Amino acid sequence: MWAELDDAMTADGPGPESVCEGIKVCLRQLPNLPTLPEIVVRLNELLENDATGAADIAGLLNDDPALAANMLRAANSAFYSGRWSAPLFSVRDAVARIGFREVRNLCLAMGVVNLFPDKGKTITHRALWEHSLVTAIAARAISRHASGSPDEDMCFVAGLLHEVGILILDQYFHRALADILHTVKSEGRPAGDVERELLGMDHAELGAELMGLWHMPEPVASSIRYHHVPEEADPACRPVARVVAAADLVCNRHGSKGCLEPADLDADDALLFTIPQEKQQELFAEIEACARKSEVFMAIALGGPSAADSGDRPHTHS
Ligand SMILES: [Fe+2]
Ligand SMILES: [Fe+2]
Repeated sequence: MWAELDDAMTADGPGPESVCEGIKVCLRQLPNLPTLPEIVVRLNELLENDATGAADIAGLLNDDPALAANMLRAANSAFYSGRWSAPLFSVRDAVARIGFREVRNLCLAMGVVNLFPDKGKTITHRALWEHSLVTAIAARAISRHASGSPDEDMCFVAGLLHEVGILILDQYFHRALADILHTVKSEGRPAGDVERELLGMDHAELGAELMGLWHMPEPVASSIRYHHVPEEADPACRPVARVVAAADLVCNRHGSKGCLEPADLDADDALLFTIPQEKQQELFAEIEACARKSEVFMAIALGGPSAADSGDRPHTHS
C-alpha cells in the first residue's frame, strides 16, 4: 500500500488532498507501522508511579544486556559524569546517576533510531539524528530560561523527534522525498511548501500524526506539528512549541553538529526565545558545552565508538 501510494505520486497522479488522506490511512492501518519501542512504554509506566526506584528501572534494563551495557557506558561518559566522578559498575547506580527520565530518553533515542534503519535511500539518517539530538539538548537548555514554564522533558523529547516525519517519508515514500528534495534544490523553495504541494501535508504534520498514534503528550505532538510555525500552536502547547522551534533555529543556523555561536542571533530570535537578553549568553554557553559532550549520547543512540567515551572519562582512583 505504501509502495502503491509512492508510485502514484507523479505529476499526473492523485491531487495532494487524496495523497494526504492516503498517507493518514496508511499510518493507521499498516501492520508494519513503527510503534513506540516496548521498553519506552514500560519505562513510561514505571515513571508514572511515584514509588518507582532505581532498582525497578535497572531490573527492566537488565532484561536486555546490550541496553544495560549502554546505560553503564553512558553513565561513565563525560556527558553524565563529572571529571572526578567515580566509575560505576552497576546498572542501578548508572540509572541513579543518569536520572530516571533521562534513561527513558536514551532508550527512546536508541529505539527510534532502530525503527527507521538507514537504507541509504534519499537522506543520511546519521546527519538527521545528529541534528535532532543537538536540537533536543538545545531545547532542554532553552526551556529552563523560556517563558510559560515549558516542561523540559517534553522539550527534549519533541526536539529529538521533531523531524521524524522526514524519516517516515524516507522509509515509505522515498521517491516522493527524492522529488521534493530535487525541487527544493533546483527551485530554491522552502521544503514545507513543496511537501504540501505534492503530499497535501508537510513532514511536521506527518511526524505529529505518528506522535498521535504513539499517544505522546499533546505538547510533544503539537510542537512537532508546528516546529516551523510555533505561534500557530494552541496556547497551552505554545511554550514547548516555541522552545523546540528556537532550538531548531539555532541548530540549523549553526550546523547540525552543535557548532553554536550566539553572535549571529538577531532580534527575531530573541523574540522567539522570550528569554531576557542578559540570560542569553549564559544559555548559549550551556548549549555549546552540552552539544560538545553529546558525542557519547550520539554514539550510543546511533551505534559505534565515541571519542568522548574515553577522552573525558573519569579515571580510576586507588
Ligand atoms: Fe523540520
Ligand atoms: Fe530540524
